[in-house]
Amino acid sequence: METSALPRHIGFIMDGNGRWAKKRAMPRNFGHKQGADVFKKTINWCRELGVQAATFYAFSTENWKRPKDEVNGIIGLLRQYIKDIRAMSRENVRFVFIGDLSAFDEDIRADLLDIMETSKENAGFTAGVALNYGGRAEITNCAAALSRKCLSGEITPDMITEELFERELYTRDFPPLDLVIRPSGEQRLSNFLIWQAAYAEFVFLDVLWPDFKKKDLEYALKEFAGRSRRFGGV
Ligand code: FPP
Repeated sequence: METSALPRHIGFIMDGNGRWAKKRAMPRNFGHKQGADVFKKTINWCRELGVQAATFYAFSTENWKRPKDEVNGIIGLLRQYIKDIRAMSRENVRFVFIGDLSAFDEDIRADLLDIMETSKENAGFTAGVALNYGGRAEITNCAAALSRKCLSGEITPDMITEELFERELYTRDFPPLDLVIRPSGEQRLSNFLIWQAAYAEFVFLDVLWPDFKKKDLEYALKEFAGRSRRFGGV
């Protein structure tokens, strides 16, 4: 495949874990466990196929509304997966955890910050993991950060451009988001990377996330390569 036809950065909305478990008469967290395995595999498939970066929606600011059991299950999985994430970071993967990490227990937060710090020079692949993330909250935080810079005299309001704004986003070190893949049949963004997705292509798949395979990624890449991207031009 031509490199130019490859998305530089893919956003994955890991949806359908609950339905996948329900179909098997298993608890929802069984689906999340399978989903977390697919998350790991997908990073490898992206690398094999030449994609530079991917961001995964693991936990949104709205997901706290789920039953306590399920929230604890997802956080427990994260705690378990931290070892795997650290191991992947040793294979030249840079991990960036995006979202408000202050909501997580101190041990998790310390591990996440440490993985980010120790992997920051890794150039093989950039993996974003959205945890307690919301796109509107991200944009609001950027506005607050720029306001503080104005108040301190570092910048003036007329210096604020889209480029300056983007430097405040969690994804400041990522290539542009070219493609969003959402499995499970839903066709919405659900507050995921809403600024970054302004000109992204979307591929919606009927497969549930725990069943997502390399062939589904290849299908999405083929779809992407066939799209005509005009960015508002003709
Ligand atoms: C959406 O499916 C999925 C989530 C809200 C959680 C995703 C979490 C993981 C894959 C595991 C944790 C991640 C890491 C990085 C260790 P859903 O529950 O909304 O499914 P449904 O729409 O079928 O109910």
